[in-house]
Amino acid sequence: MHPVLRILFILIFAFFSQAISAQNIEWKKIYPGVWKGIAGKPEAYDLLKAADVRASSILQKMDKADFPLNKNDIHFQLNSGKSYLRIPLEKNEQLFGFGLNFQTVHQRGKIMQLHADHYGKSDNGRTHAPVPFYISSLGYGVFVNSARYIDVYAGSGVRKDSKNPPKIMDRNTDKDWSAHPYSDAVEMLIPAEGVEIYVFAGPKPVNVIERFNLLSGGGCLPPRWGLGFTQRVHRLYTDEQVKKEAKAFEEKGFPLDFIGLEPGWQSKSYPCTFEWDKGRFPDPARFVKEMDAMGVKINLWTNPYVSPDASIYTAILPYTGSHTVWNGIVPDLSMPQAGKILFSQWEKEHVKIGVSGYKIDEVDGYDSYVWPDVATFPSGHASEQIRQTYGLLVQKQSFEMFRKNNSRTYGLVRASNAGGSSFPYVIYNDNYSHEDFITALINSGYAGVLWTPEVRASKTAEEWLRRFQTVCFSPMAMINAWSSGMQPWTFPEVAPQIKAVAELRMQMMPYWYSEFAKYHYKGTPPFRGMSLEEGFASDFKKEKTATNLEENPYEEAITKEVKDQYMAGEFLLVAPLFTGQTTRKVILPKGKWFDFYTGKFVGDGQVITITPGLDRIPVYVKDGGIIPMMPTRLHAPKPGEKVDLEIRHYGEKNGSYALYDDDGVTFDYEKGIFSWREIKVEKQKNGTFKGSISKEEAGKPNTVGKVTWRYMTN
Ligand code: GAL
Repeated sequence: MHPVLRILFILIFAFFSQAISAQNIEWKKIYPGVWKGIAGKPEAYDLLKAADVRASSILQKMDKADFPLNKNDIHFQLNSGKSYLRIPLEKNEQLFGFGLNFQTVHQRGKIMQLHADHYGKSDNGRTHAPVPFYISSLGYGVFVNSARYIDVYAGSGVRKDSKNPPKIMDRNTDKDWSAHPYSDAVEMLIPAEGVEIYVFAGPKPVNVIERFNLLSGGGCLPPRWGLGFTQRVHRLYTDEQVKKEAKAFEEKGFPLDFIGLEPGWQSKSYPCTFEWDKGRFPDPARFVKEMDAMGVKINLWTNPYVSPDASIYTAILPYTGSHTVWNGIVPDLSMPQAGKILFSQWEKEHVKIGVSGYKIDEVDGYDSYVWPDVATFPSGHASEQIRQTYGLLVQKQSFEMFRKNNSRTYGLVRASNAGGSSFPYVIYNDNYSHEDFITALINSGYAGVLWTPEVRASKTAEEWLRRFQTVCFSPMAMINAWSSGMQPWTFPEVAPQIKAVAELRMQMMPYWYSEFAKYHYKGTPPFRGMSLEEGFASDFKKEKTATNLEENPYEEAITKEVKDQYMAGEFLLVAPLFTGQTTRKVILPKGKWFDFYTGKFVGDGQVITITPGLDRIPVYVKDGGIIPMMPTRLHAPKPGEKVDLEIRHYGEKNGSYALYDDDGVTFDYEKGIFSWREIKVEKQKNGTFKGSISKEEAGKPNTVGKVTWRYMTN
């Protein structure tokens, strides 16, 4: 065919296919900057249905925005009974998200199947939180609300009718030839006859995530004690051993807010009875009370698979799936009957005697032991749908149980998904790679979930300290000694440094608490990747890698990505070191940055090389940054307890900070019983800084005691 005719033909074809697709998706603006599109016949059960959450009222008050893409370029079509979606992608665009990834931050070009699972050492879509949501560096986001396994081609396929085809090159003569030519779309295949799609506007990428989180009620607000330190003790400890451990923390002066009991507290585990082992815990109510008197709450490990010996077995049997897990029956938690039986029992046995929360294990599922996809469930939902939503279901229903008792919880879960941001649960796993743990911490912010780089065991004192430092700059400061039985002071040679960073965690509680309040009320992730930081050089250049054409004739350089430094709250940049590292590079976004410990200027929009020594984790503060801190203590402040503040200011600019306050333990904040105080630091005529804090509001919570100001940069 003549080339002109060919182009004309392609254009006509493209025009008609676009025209058809435009009719296919019905778009509706549901909040400022949030649109919902209905394509085909979406299924009745999806991620948001499972999460069963209401959007935050704040979403309604967000800035108006235009639809961030060209609607006509978003294409939907039924493809052999499955929903095919195509969303345009520009050349200079990077993608973030697609769930809790562990090795990569940049997702452009990736091919994955989003599938709830443990992480198996490859970012192929199988993960604890396979959230079908991505954020573009251009400041918009897309969420596909489906509880199916979704195939994603994040800019890898090239269509022959592309409006923006890649340049045709000859590998023999063009040095720019690539095995991965430019793809102008994100393509997805959802095994359903229709789907709900959400598009979020920015303008900044962080605003996209805020809108996404607010759509599911905003981020969670942990109790204050949840942000203290937690030790998960050895699985076979008795009540006396647990008490002894808590006493040792106190005697040695190590902070401790809650202790996690691992499988041994139950009469049977794997599958579980949810009942106390009367040998190890003869009087659970008294035990929990005594621990509480020591200022230490109790969290219980469990999985949801019901043992034939459990007292609820017969009652729950009709509401369970066709297959078992470790011989335990699987409650179909998408049926209210199943949830009612399970959680009433937990409430009676645990919550009513003062248990503060759970670690809900194994809801992600390894294929080899969780129910298979051929399983059926009495609700009629597909096994795949139950797998994708099981983490959401256990979080939602256990959270509601605590809400009913007007007592906040903060726990752990091994699976989540879109819609789960407001559930007070932190994800963890068994893959004990420190580097992957930090990359996951970064990615958790893009996925609307929380993640802890938990400390379990270490071969050396150096590793112990390095891991411990990062967990203190994460959503949950935790040692999980379920198998190792280790304690913070296990390596005496670094015990003082461990203690110092655990104390720092406690001193920073007013900062952490306010940052979580911003997660809840504004949707801003408290821990997040550098790409969300203004002034961060968004350098999508390729990184040179040694290619081996014999083994892989299509191997190419990979896009540079930053996966070893992150933002913690509004003002802090954390640059951890891993075992064996004595020096590292830190990329500082534009603007001046200051050392957290000394207040000294460290750089401005540049890459610095640091050799920080072992004692401290490198942390940098933005110019004008304000960090409210409190005196060191072993436990979080009690409701209403007044706490003195040391308010630190860094840098040369004036600063302001919103300090959050409420009772720290109940849900009364949902009735408006909370307060924000405005902290300001301003330069005076004589060049010195002066700080002020807004007056407390009458009738509103106020726990601020004496305030002292520390201007860190002289
Ligand atoms: C694992 C879990 C560990 C620990 C262990 C207890 O599944 O990831 O953190 O709780 O079970 O058996």
